[in-house]
Amino acid sequence: MRLFLFVFKRNLLILNFLDFIIATACFVRFFLPYFFDEDLKMETRFARITTPVPGPRSIELMQRKKAAMPHGAISNLPVFIKKADDFLLTDVDGNVFIDFGAGIGVLNAGHSNPKILAAITRQVQSFTHTCFHMAMYEPYIALTEKLNNLTPGDSPKKTYLVNSGAEANENAVKIARRFTGKSAIVAFEHAFHGRTLLALSLTGKVSPYRQGFGPMAPEIYHLPSPHRSNSGFLQPPESTNYDAGFIAEQLKTVVPETDIAAFIVEPVLGEGGILPCDQKYLDALFDFSRSRGILIIADEIQTGWGRTGKLFAMEHFGYEPDILVTAKSIASGLPLSAVVGKAEIMDSVQPGGIGSTYSGNPVACAAALAGIDFIVENDLAGKAGKIGSITREKLASLVENHKNIVDVRGIGAMNGIEFVVDKTSGKPGTEIVRAVQKICWENGLVVLKSGSHGHVIRMLPPLTISQDGLREGLEIFTAAVQKL
Ligand SMILES: Cc1ncc(COP(=O)(O)O)c(C=O)c1O
Repeated sequence: MRLFLFVFKRNLLILNFLDFIIATACFVRFFLPYFFDEDLKMETRFARITTPVPGPRSIELMQRKKAAMPHGAISNLPVFIKKADDFLLTDVDGNVFIDFGAGIGVLNAGHSNPKILAAITRQVQSFTHTCFHMAMYEPYIALTEKLNNLTPGDSPKKTYLVNSGAEANENAVKIARRFTGKSAIVAFEHAFHGRTLLALSLTGKVSPYRQGFGPMAPEIYHLPSPHRSNSGFLQPPESTNYDAGFIAEQLKTVVPETDIAAFIVEPVLGEGGILPCDQKYLDALFDFSRSRGILIIADEIQTGWGRTGKLFAMEHFGYEPDILVTAKSIASGLPLSAVVGKAEIMDSVQPGGIGSTYSGNPVACAAALAGIDFIVENDLAGKAGKIGSITREKLASLVENHKNIVDVRGIGAMNGIEFVVDKTSGKPGTEIVRAVQKICWENGLVVLKSGSHGHVIRMLPPLTISQDGLREGLEIFTAAVQKL
């Protein structure tokens, strides 16, 4: 017995000693840097990072994710969120981040907006689903009326609701084909229109979206991007005269113009690198299309609801598209999207030709009605303009002063910072952007990336962000790029 007690106590001692060694190693590896690295200790009012990023609880959940989910479904920020409030995200380890991603442009009206939450709660307490195609409800109608009134242009319009951006784009294509009786759709290189197979076929970026998923849907064609960057990363094909003849010339080796039902265009490239369409190119495109009975579909999924400084980005260019597709911030995080089109185009589809079980789910409609009112009443488009000027003013000098930054650009609160490996080669700074993102996370700022080479940091903060919150986020970003 005495021998047993002796062995037991010794083992206990050894175990305690091992625990002690492991705890000390963790402390030195993860926590000590925060006490000694002056840059990491930047005074922050909103962001609060108290563990390594990801913290222990997030790491645990990440292991469960790895085991339970396919590798193809990734997440950018390596933490799990417990709570979100206005422009702040709190993770399961208690770290607080300033959110410059807004769920990829979905939370224009801010996370957990009380007015929207109240509308959602009211609707949930009445009913959550009937399937509109089986039994109808008023919020759907009220929302379509609102969309018909708020989208650009004076033409009488009609709206159909679906669930995601991709699904809305698919419906826009079907409707354009039905109305024109033609089948070809022309999209643009570098564009992003979604991941379902027809939407993916429209998307003009190969990796990682298209690899191994072919064949793509037929009768989809791509022209070079009509978007223009100061850095030279993207330029529309050069011409001294952007006119209908120029577009006809572009199509000569692509598809007969008589086969084209519609062009689909993002007025400002989101996923493609934050680049507005060249105005003269767009003029030529509208001129060409109008004279040939071809429709223009504006994909305003990312640019809508005040993001660019106007309610819809097409307002910057002075055009009414034939069909406008909107999603993301339409319902502040609930799955909803809409196809808004000129009435005669939308009415060309036979009864039952468009439909979906969850089309215009009543809870999502309630969120959208409250969210849109909030966006309009609080002039979030105007606020986006201010966010944009502060952002670009604060970051502009980096183009001259930072070895890896070649462009700071944007429109409203949709801003991008383009990175290169070095300014002589101009090679896209894909790895550098990854590093910047990581340093930002570690210091409490969530930023997205974009661009076909993943070499552009994308900033899409909620439009409700306070000036102090915005400035703090920009300071974290500036400090992060100084650490490269
Ligand atoms: C311009 C644009 N179109 C389409 C989509 C696809 O939307 P969803 O992911 O809701 O299908 C996105 C999403 O990022 C987008 O930015």
